[in-house]
Amino acid sequence: MLRLAVLVSGGGTNLQAIIDAIKDGQITNAEIVAVISNNPKAYALERAQQAGILALCISPKDYQDREAFHDALLKALLAARADLVVLAGCLVVIPEKIVDAFENRIINIHPSLIPSFCGKDYYGLRVHEGVLARGVKVTGATVHFVDKGTDTGPIILQKAVCVQAGDTPEILQRRVMEEAEWVIMPKAIDLIANNKITVVDGKVVEI
Ligand code: GRF
Repeated sequence: MLRLAVLVSGGGTNLQAIIDAIKDGQITNAEIVAVISNNPKAYALERAQQAGILALCISPKDYQDREAFHDALLKALLAARADLVVLAGCLVVIPEKIVDAFENRIINIHPSLIPSFCGKDYYGLRVHEGVLARGVKVTGATVHFVDKGTDTGPIILQKAVCVQAGDTPEILQRRVMEEAEWVIMPKAIDLIANNKITVVDGKVVEI
């Protein structure tokens, strides 16, 4: 049984998709052992509590410096005996010491087709603002393993979403979440939980 620790910062709709997918059997051989938020007000924590899942807030504001915050986050992940760390709407930059401790065992959902509209300046609505400003006709979402870069790790799954006339960043964000994020995040977890993929020469391959 793969032990999942899900890191969140906001509404938690990706977390909810994972909770629901485990409940309805779309994800097998996995359980969420902890949900951890840097934001005490994240509704994702409420979703975890409603699902009877350990919900922790580890906020940088509660630590004397960034290093102490990182140490507390790593300690919580190790205490939870997490096998896979899932960044689901997580706005915390994962430090090298955690990437090293969980090599190819951290995944992230990004709301674009990497390598487009990604990197340190592209997060949340900014991604969709960039998509609309550039006038691309197709966008989507990507689940990837986390390495020491920003949105640069091996790509696991992607799903395309058409941009429609009249889209605003908010409308497009919602469509990308509904049609792509909430589909590929659970699917990626199920692939990993059932040992269907691995990383070879920096690329994800099916086993
Ligand atoms: C989503 O668009 C996700 O791609 C991004 O954060 C947004 C909110 O996610 N990383 P959630 O509703 O908190 O899961």
